Amino acid sequence: MRVNGEQYRTIWPDPTDSRRICLIDQRQLPHRFVVETVTSCQQMCAAISEMHVRGAGLIGAAAAFAVYLATLAAPDEGMDPYLREAASELLRSRPTARNLQWAVERMLAAIGTVATPAGKRQLALAAAKAIADEDADFCRRIGIHGLPLLEEISRRKGGKTVHILTHCNAGWLAFVDYGSATAPIYAARDAGLDIHVWVDETRPWNQGARLTAWELQQEGVACTLICDNCGGHLMQKGLVDLVLVGSDRTTHTGDVANKIGTYLKALAAWDNDIPFYVALPSSTFDWNLDNGYDIPIEQRAEEEITTTFGRDEEGAIRTVTLTAPGTRAANYGFDITPARLVTGLITERGVVAAERQAICRLFPEGPGDAATGTDLSVSKK
Ligand code: MRU
Repeated sequence: MRVNGEQYRTIWPDPTDSRRICLIDQRQLPHRFVVETVTSCQQMCAAISEMHVRGAGLIGAAAAFAVYLATLAAPDEGMDPYLREAASELLRSRPTARNLQWAVERMLAAIGTVATPAGKRQLALAAAKAIADEDADFCRRIGIHGLPLLEEISRRKGGKTVHILTHCNAGWLAFVDYGSATAPIYAARDAGLDIHVWVDETRPWNQGARLTAWELQQEGVACTLICDNCGGHLMQKGLVDLVLVGSDRTTHTGDVANKIGTYLKALAAWDNDIPFYVALPSSTFDWNLDNGYDIPIEQRAEEEITTTFGRDEEGAIRTVTLTAPGTRAANYGFDITPARLVTGLITERGVVAAERQAICRLFPEGPGDAATGTDLSVSKK
């Protein structure tokens, strides 16, 4: 998508030296646009856990490139145990994110099909690029499948503005390109629909205020920032036509883990008879869990709640403390929206009900090729 009119992806190998992986450092947005270079798996683990990169698909792509970087650092003798250790470190970096696990397993399965160290390194780069390309393509297709939902609302409203409420950032910054929740919005913009997005600020990290509002503005999509508590009021006033969010992990039974606060939006949407859709690529499905409440919920540092940061009047980026000294904070990163509150899931293969049979009909292969274990499988550690 575009940054100041120029096309970018969120992560890419340096075209002059593929041992250098470039990524947009999202901690700096929207105040500074900084491209960072990562050259080791350890650096990528830090970039993931400290949220230089974040969001379902991007975490997966970053993990894939991290496994490739690990193959470069691994000794020829003993490459497999080295990669298993690297994989374990990656899996610890963001526990709720399903795409991370999916990408690591897929990388190890692919690398395990090749015998020589040189071959493994070559294949790892190709596999990581393929995961990144696939992520972008899945999101593009989510846009195609989500567009008719917005067209239908627009038709019903006689072409008047369609108001979409979104939470957190499930935009292109959370993936390699297009985004999941934003893909249908960009498709609708391209189709000439009159679209407006209510953007939840998404405390404590402010992904909505800092990222979603910025990327929609860069793409020329009308949007308005709201505080996290505002959505219910807007829904009661008839100012929301559809809620559209992303997901960090969705069980094959349709329960959705997404950024903390999503559940409250789903409850308000239910109470006001407003459709609540979740956009996700199949790489976000967890095929092993039946119950969303079994999804591990990441807890992050208290300081993300007790402080905030932004640009002051002189242009300096500052962190300020919001609370009295000693104030304790509980920083749960995600919550679970039960399937019964979800109108539908928008995937790269189409829109599907949030229930086991429908999901398994659309994805009969389940987890796909990543499931074929090899002698590199992380579970063997
Ligand atoms: O903690 P984050 O920013 O990595 O959380 C992920 C998210 O951005 C959201 O939960 C998002 O809605 C789903 S990821 C597309």
